[in-house]
Formats: sequence, structure tokens, C-alpha cells
Amino acid sequence: MSDTNPTPYDLVVIGAGPGGYVCAIKAAQLGLKVGLVEKRATPGGTCINIGCIPSKALLHASEKFAEIDHQFADLGIEVGAPKLNLEKMLGHKTATVDANVKGLEFLIKKNKIDWLHGTGKVAGTGTVVVTAEGDEEKTVQTKNIVIASGSDVAGIPGVDVKFDEKVIVSSTGALELSKVPERMIVVGGGVIGLELGSVWARLGAKVTVVEYLDTILGGMDGEVSKQFQRMLGKQGIEFKLGAKVTGVEKAKKGATVTFEPVKGGDAETLEADVVLVATGRKPHVESLGLDAAGVALDERGRIKTDDHWCTSVEGIYAIGDVIAGPMLAHKAEDEGVAVAEILAGQAGHVNYEVIPSVVYTSPEVASVGKTEEELKKAGIAYKAGKFPFSANGRARAMLATDGFVKVLADATTDRVLGVHIVGFGAGEMIHEAAVLMEFGGSSEDLARTCHAHPTMSEAVKEAALGTFFKPLHM
Ligand code: NAI
Repeated sequence: MSDTNPTPYDLVVIGAGPGGYVCAIKAAQLGLKVGLVEKRATPGGTCINIGCIPSKALLHASEKFAEIDHQFADLGIEVGAPKLNLEKMLGHKTATVDANVKGLEFLIKKNKIDWLHGTGKVAGTGTVVVTAEGDEEKTVQTKNIVIASGSDVAGIPGVDVKFDEKVIVSSTGALELSKVPERMIVVGGGVIGLELGSVWARLGAKVTVVEYLDTILGGMDGEVSKQFQRMLGKQGIEFKLGAKVTGVEKAKKGATVTFEPVKGGDAETLEADVVLVATGRKPHVESLGLDAAGVALDERGRIKTDDHWCTSVEGIYAIGDVIAGPMLAHKAEDEGVAVAEILAGQAGHVNYEVIPSVVYTSPEVASVGKTEEELKKAGIAYKAGKFPFSANGRARAMLATDGFVKVLADATTDRVLGVHIVGFGAGEMIHEAAVLMEFGGSSEDLARTCHAHPTMSEAVKEAALGTFFKPLHM
């Protein structure tokens, strides 16, 4: 060990993903001296480098490509068949990532955060050891440590999946296939599988999703996931539900996926040029020295924290994918802000009841608060109001009539408990519901708020009206 920083940091954050870098920026803004440890050459974590941002670039580009084939003629725009330049499309993705990384590097410098490149290891309260490849170890002293080390691809429990990121790919490889596969199998009908499956289906691949549950997007409102599956079916995506994948093997050409009905029955094997395995992610806790430092994990391998994100060791905090809760960038960001505030002597808080989630497919799916299934399970009496986009003027004008808004409100108090949207722009519309719920608003508050006409958001107002009276346009 060489080099020890002469002035201890107030805070060293391990991991520069959305949780870690936001925590570092907020802490620096609040006057703390901050070091940010990251093993990747660039900041931004999975989200900016190989997750949310590059996938959105490809989702946007492939959506435009598919629109030319499916919508332009109906709008009176006659163009020839679109021609794909995949290299250029992937170039747009890379440029998007680079611009975001540059922006972040600027913010890190602007806030005078020390960039500590290397793998961070917790060597007990107040000490972090940073090792960069080919470099000496560097030991830094700090008053507090925040672990924001994120998550890794989980693979399929009990199945030896040999990812080569070309034929058998995780989300990382699925973001840079060198050509459009003829056939693609997606293992897992969750968010990653449906977003990236959509990208390649729009570009011409025959996509089959094999999912263990009887429904896609398990955990989403049941009615939403059912209708959404129908919409994806119309786009040509096939589904094998209630199917447990038991083998993924490389073949002479492409790969095979073997699965069996969860309820029992004969196994089936499908072939494809590319197999995307998207069966969840696991917290990244290895190489952090947590055991030696005494930082306890829960039964699912996540770092245990109290209500203030403190681990079992005083002065060591954890946020984001590495602790309990949804693995979402914005949840991690909010936790990062809250911990920075706590360390600066302020009150930090995250309202876990109001964390929106969005699936960036076409149409989008967005949700905040409780689903009908959750309310029923909890025995909470509720009223539901629903409004279809087929009855919304703006949606008709834009050929975006697929989908609906559902508002769920407490039967006694009228307080909104959940809002679920499937439709064009759902991921933007969901935030008026989130703001309302943050303020404990009722469905009547939502319905009496003037909504501009003509907008897709009027469907939110109409669904809210339906909760306690009747929609006007249905
Ligand atoms: P996921 O947990 O959303 O979905 C995985 C799916 O795989 C589940 O439906 C599960 O039932 C299925 N599965 C598991 N084992 C299986 C087997 N043996 N055979 C067949 N199916 C099987 O995980 P995903 O999509 O990999 O995403 C990982 C994390 O990243 C999630 O927490 C997700 O929320 C997050 N994420 C969020 C995004 C967003 O908010 N737009 C985008 C991408 C990822």
C-alpha cells in the first residue's frame, strides 16, 4: 500500500452509476469533500454506459424505422421501404452514450469531486482501498462511505448459461449485434426482454419470448400486462408463457433454448440465431470486502440497511440496486440525494410508495403506486376509473389509440393509490399522477385539474373522473 490521502474525505462513494454519482454531486453541492471510486473508465454505471441510455437510443431509432413501414402510408406519406443502416444506428447509440458521459465528467469536475479510478474495497469504517489495473493500491481515508456498486446480470438459476455476447447475449450484447438476427429468442418477459426484444423485432427479427410466469411484466397491473401482450403480439412478437427454461446451448449455427411447461409436460427446444437471456439482475457485492468489514447481507444477497440507508457498520451506507427495492436508476438517484442530505446534517427521505416505473416499448407502459392485485391482496377497498385512448381526440389524430389509463383510488377517502397507463407517451404522462400522489391527492383533485385540450393527458383526467363519477367522453 502506498499513498494515503492527507486530508480525509467527508464522503467516498463506491460506484459512479446513477445512485453513486448523484449522491456525490449532491454531497459536494452541500459542501462536503467527496471522492468517487469507479472501476469503469467512464462514469454513469450500467445505466449510461450499457443500459437505460443506449437502449433508449436504439428504441427510438428502431421505432422510427418501424413507423415508416406501419404508419406513414396511413398518414398519407408515401415513401419507399425503409433501408436499415445498422452501423449508423449503432453509431447514434454510441454518440448518445458519449454525450452523456461527457456531460457527467463535466459535472464531476464542476463539483470538485475527486475521480478515483479503480476497484474500491471497504477496509473498515473510514478506509477505502482503490486498485486500478496495473496501478498501485491507493488507500483513502473518509468520514463516511456510500456503497453504490449496482448490479450484474443474474443468469438463469440452475442453468449454466455461457454468454459470449454474440450468440448468447445479455442486455450488453443485445445492444450491439452486428446484424439483425433472423430469429431471436428472449428468455424472460420482463423489462429488458421486452424492450430489447422490441428493438430487434422492429428491425426485422422474428422474436419469441419464453417466460416462466403466465404473464409478461410480472408485478405490473394484470389488466395492463394482458392488453400489452396483445399489442406486442400484433407487432409480431410470439410468447411462450408458463415455460421454464432449463437449457441454453450454443449450436453449430446459433443456439438452442430448451424449456418445459411450469405445470408439467414435455420439454420443447427452439433454435435461434441469437438468444437474449434477460432473467433479472443480482446485487454486485463481490470484491467489496464486505465480509471482512462486517457489512451484513440479507437472505437475497443484498446489503442490509436501516431506514437511513446505514448498513450494519456505522459510517458505511448503501444505496441503489445493491440494497432492497426495485432496481431502477431513479430510485437509486433519490436514495443518493437522501443519504447526501443526511450526511450534511439535513433530513433525507425517499417515498417508496411513489416510485414510477416505465417500460419504454411502443406503446409505453407506465405505472405508479399499487396495482389492483396488490390492493385486493392487502384487503383495501378501492374504486377504479378507466379511459381508453381510442376515445381521445389527440390519440386519434396521432394514430395512437392503443391502450388506456387506469386510476385506482381509496373507496372511502378517494386518495389515489395507483395509476397505470399503457399507451403512447405513458412514460411522460405518469408523472402528473406521481406528483398528485406525492401530495396525497384524490381522484377528484386530478379530475378537477384543468387539462389542456387536445392532449393524451386528458385520458388521465377522464379516468380519474370515472373513479368517482363518469368520464365525459365515453
Ligand atoms: P425482470 O425481473 O424484469 O424479468 C425477468 C423475467 O425472467 C421474469 O419475468 C421471470 O419470471 C423470468 N424468468 C426467470 N427465470 C426464468 C426461466 N428459467 N425461464 C423463463 N423465464 C424466466 O428482469 P430483467 O428484465 O432482466 O431486468 C433486470 C432489472 O433491470 C429489473 O429490475 C428491471 O426493473 C431493471 N430494468 C428496468 C428498466 C426500466 O425501468 N425501463 C429497463 C431495463 C431494466
